[in-house]
Amino acid sequence: MQTLAIIGAQWGDEGKGKITDLLAEKCDLVVRYQGGHNAGHTIWVNGQKTVLHVIPSGVLHPHCLSVIGHGVVLEPENFLKELDKIKNMTKVTPDNLKLSSTATVITSYHKLLDAARETQGPEKIGTTGKGIGPAYEDKVSRRAVKVKDLLDKDTLVRRLANGYAEKAILFKNLYQIDFPTIEEEVERLYSYGLQIKDYVTDTFSLIDQKLSEGKRVLYEGAQGILLDVDYGTYPYVTSSSTAASGIYTGAGVPGRKLEEVIGVAKAYTTRVGEGPFPTELFDDLGTHIQTKGNEFGATTGRKRRCGWLDIPLLRYSVKCSQLTSIALTKLDILSDLPTLKICYAYEVNGKTVDCAYPGINLFDAKPLYKEMKPFKDTFEGDKASPELEAYMSFLQDALGIPVKIYAYGPDRSQIVFRDNFLK
Ligand code: IMP
Repeated sequence: MQTLAIIGAQWGDEGKGKITDLLAEKCDLVVRYQGGHNAGHTIWVNGQKTVLHVIPSGVLHPHCLSVIGHGVVLEPENFLKELDKIKNMTKVTPDNLKLSSTATVITSYHKLLDAARETQGPEKIGTTGKGIGPAYEDKVSRRAVKVKDLLDKDTLVRRLANGYAEKAILFKNLYQIDFPTIEEEVERLYSYGLQIKDYVTDTFSLIDQKLSEGKRVLYEGAQGILLDVDYGTYPYVTSSSTAASGIYTGAGVPGRKLEEVIGVAKAYTTRVGEGPFPTELFDDLGTHIQTKGNEFGATTGRKRRCGWLDIPLLRYSVKCSQLTSIALTKLDILSDLPTLKICYAYEVNGKTVDCAYPGINLFDAKPLYKEMKPFKDTFEGDKASPELEAYMSFLQDALGIPVKIYAYGPDRSQIVFRDNFLK
């Protein structure tokens, strides 16, 4: 197997970082293809925690080449801070970390605009406030600054001037907030350009070359399929293509197909920010899962909403990204619960529906539950209890794809590969 992908099958925060970290041991390249530092991928090794935002989660493996593809939106100041933060954990140099010259740059204006819309706009999305949406808007409207533009002052001035007059009117007249002058922003970004230039390269041809040499490439998704700008629960989504399709547009799989697409799903469901959530729990059980699961955003610290595992949503994710297998995480959080349920379908307008197709108004979907036998696994041996096996089997049968990996804790040692997967 030469090409595989790790993709969030829910609304993000499924534990993609730790699965990517472990699989990276068996891969040559780990490639990020969308999103930016709105992501927070947490990895625990020997009791030490590392949170990565835009740097790929293979970076802790010295043999692995980390690649930030052109579909990513990069905030250079944050990128440099992240590099500095991980320097005691691993050696990162321009030899093992590559940044696409055509990735889009997040500027000060994008961050200000994101915050202004959330506080003053008519509809709150509950964004991470990192400027992700406004940066992607500029990309699509062909006004973005690309990473390579940071390396040449004249080009940078020209690219930033594009759309600046419009932004100035917005900030001054509509939102009435102070913002940096174009000269200040040029100086700030140019100084970051000088600091990141050694990492910058054409990552598409790099991936092409590595694939031709027979190297194994792992594509690491950020957020989850249900936050995809096209497939997700619009408008409560992020602004990038988080589904497998984003790999083709955001990094490229030159001349190849994706062979294994692993959907990472929590054993329950969570979401941060606004938007529909059919299986959300508002009772003590929800609070228990939230507390035991430490369900706080790795990037913003916000409380995550919690609910039962939702199969109609996962069925939809399988279809959106042609998922070939599931990695099921955080099973330990459900161990020892008094009751255990899985939503197998919804009732919508008196009809039973088993897939969360976009035509369904999820705000109106009433979850139908199957009561499962609670499991009490301590995960000390290497065998799952019959109840836990039944929980995973129910999911496999409902989705038609196998659970090839499961995790019962954040550490590398708490992740189980079933049936010799990738051995
Ligand atoms: P944005 O990506 O900052 O524009 O936020 C848009 C929506 O995506 C909000 O509901 C965020 O909470 C959500 N979101 C963005 N990044 C993540 C993530 O890494 N995990 C979970 N939710 C996220």
